[in-house]
Amino acid sequence: MENSRPERIAVYPGTFDPLTNGHVDIIQRGAALFDRIVVAILVNPAKSPLFSVKERVEMAEVTFESQPGVEVDTFQGLLVEYARRRNASVIVRGLRAISDFEYEMQMALMNRHLSSTIETVLMMPAESYTYLSSRLVKEVFALGGSVRGLVPDLVETRLAEKLEAGPVRRA
Ligand code: PNS
Repeated sequence: MENSRPERIAVYPGTFDPLTNGHVDIIQRGAALFDRIVVAILVNPAKSPLFSVKERVEMAEVTFESQPGVEVDTFQGLLVEYARRRNASVIVRGLRAISDFEYEMQMALMNRHLSSTIETVLMMPAESYTYLSSRLVKEVFALGGSVRGLVPDLVETRLAEKLEAGPVRRA
């Protein structure tokens, strides 16, 4: 008999400036739970990220090119509106430590206020990534430290290219 269950789609929103192995870990866990997980990169002209949206999309697409259950996209405006447009019933966010909890809970409850049918699922990364953030990756790299094993190989390559082009901003 044909399975008529609707596809269960999750969006994993964020800035991803740049993608870290902590993000990759959450995406792999999400891909195991949902039929499709959409890595949704926020387009926010007010922020001045190190990597352009195009560069961030490329790094994520190359990282997940062999995983059909993972899609990379961009979004602007309200996340719940984007999730609705994508027929997603779940918003995935990573929770590294208690310090993340307050911000994540605020966002989850605000998103529930805006759309009661979309659930937020908070997922814990592997312990080895609980100290990892995009901000620290940029800072360590800018100061000459190694980020090997903390980011996908392509991200390390792109960080090196940025450094060659001029000093890497840490924020
Ligand atoms: O990686 P980040 O910077 O922690 O991601 C934050 C993000 C993109 C998830 C959040 O800023 C967001 O959802 N922005 C879209 C605008 C929106 O919907 N704001 C209300 C959320 S409560």
